[in-house]
Amino acid sequence: MTTLISGGEVVSPQGVTPADVLVDGETITAVLAPGTAQTLGLVPDKTIDATGKYVLPGGIDVHTHLDMPFGGTFSVDDFETGTRAAAWGGTTTIIDFPVQKKGGSLQEAVDTWHAKADGKACIDYGFHAILADVNESSLKEMDVLVDQGVTSFKLFMAYPGVFLSTDDQIMQAMYRAADNGATIMMHAENGAAIDQIVTRAIAAGHTEPKYHGLTRPIALEAEAVGRATRMAEVTGAPLYFVHLSSGEAVDVVAQARDAGRNVFGETCPQYLFLDESDLARPDFEGAKYVCTPALRPQEEQAKLWRGLRTNDLSVVATDHCPFCFVPDKQLGRDDFRAIPNGLPGVEHRMDLLHMGVTKGEIGLARWVEIAAATPARMFGLYPRKGTISPGADADIVIYDPQATQTVSAQTHHMNVDYSVYEGWEFTGRVETVLSRGEVILADGEFSGSPGRGHFQQRSLSQYLV
Ligand code: URP
Ligand code: ZN
Ligand code: ZN
Repeated sequence: MTTLISGGEVVSPQGVTPADVLVDGETITAVLAPGTAQTLGLVPDKTIDATGKYVLPGGIDVHTHLDMPFGGTFSVDDFETGTRAAAWGGTTTIIDFPVQKKGGSLQEAVDTWHAKADGKACIDYGFHAILADVNESSLKEMDVLVDQGVTSFKLFMAYPGVFLSTDDQIMQAMYRAADNGATIMMHAENGAAIDQIVTRAIAAGHTEPKYHGLTRPIALEAEAVGRATRMAEVTGAPLYFVHLSSGEAVDVVAQARDAGRNVFGETCPQYLFLDESDLARPDFEGAKYVCTPALRPQEEQAKLWRGLRTNDLSVVATDHCPFCFVPDKQLGRDDFRAIPNGLPGVEHRMDLLHMGVTKGEIGLARWVEIAAATPARMFGLYPRKGTISPGADADIVIYDPQATQTVSAQTHHMNVDYSVYEGWEFTGRVETVLSRGEVILADGEFSGSPGRGHFQQRSLSQYLV
């Protein structure tokens, strides 16, 4: 089965080029000057007219939490609903996080996640592993998982007693990663210091959602970023900071990058578009915006956009971790500490970043770079994913930059009862999505099936010098 996508403008990190894209089966076979297919007498089985549209490599969201146990409940999108929603938003690959239990093994975590995804995922997926219990045996397992294509490990400097790794544990994991080539992903917030602020807030009777933000200051994010950066310097481990939320944190990353270190930063749409005032919404509505790190003062947004332009931030991922307002977020009605942390967002990343393009924050080429090409290179999926080139998987999005849409929980495809972007007007919309050559979304209809997504064995990060 051959498909020709004709008349569109192919967007890549190198720029925007009018080109036709030929797909054979699951693979891109040619990127042709417009009209060449006809000149050569090629007769595809199917032609998709992309005139006036952008043709993009499918988005790669390297930070999702599907069906994840957290705070006494589970994130409400599973691999079926979460990957379907991702596809609606132009994402064709996700990387999710199996969670090691305390006392449990990394392999158990990965096996559990395979069982969650198998038969359900509508798009391709990979795994990073959360190291919640760094010990001799889990350190050895890191090597085994690298061989299975799980080549990155998330550690937490936050959540004492739950996920937090102490500095000695972080050093051990980093030494292991320096040896086996894996990337350490870091949740950088000084959890022990934050807990002291939280204790004081609760003692003063401050239980509302806004105190989630007020007790997690930027200084303690920047401190943790600095500490982890220095530990990576000493151990030689490649280090990728997840969900950076502040200019101070980006400055620390920039300093390490300027010194030539393998230190990388990710931010998320919620830090680019939402702010701490959302956490202060009345009637407990602020709980909808509780995520960690917390939403910041609005002035941080410009610093994050700048970091994206300068490549001190290299990737935008969603940290999609949805909990319903009712009942899940209600767990913390009387105490913000009990509000499950996380926001829904897997469906809106490509559109929100396109809004960044229309607002002049980034260019079209950078949009594709931070949303598809760099995530693929960073996490060992390139050139199978993240590019429109011969030989790559035909994961392709046809994007209409003129279309408009209004976001609402009534119409979104995530399995969650609210939207943090409720009522927002977006300019731009995904029109058609191909996943490994199969049209899974077109004409406002999703036609992909659960279970068609394949697990992606990843190689090591392709940014390592
Ligand atoms: O609030 C968040 N970010 N929830 C998901 C877990 C994490 O720390 O990434
Ligand atoms: Zn985190
Ligand atoms: Zn996360």
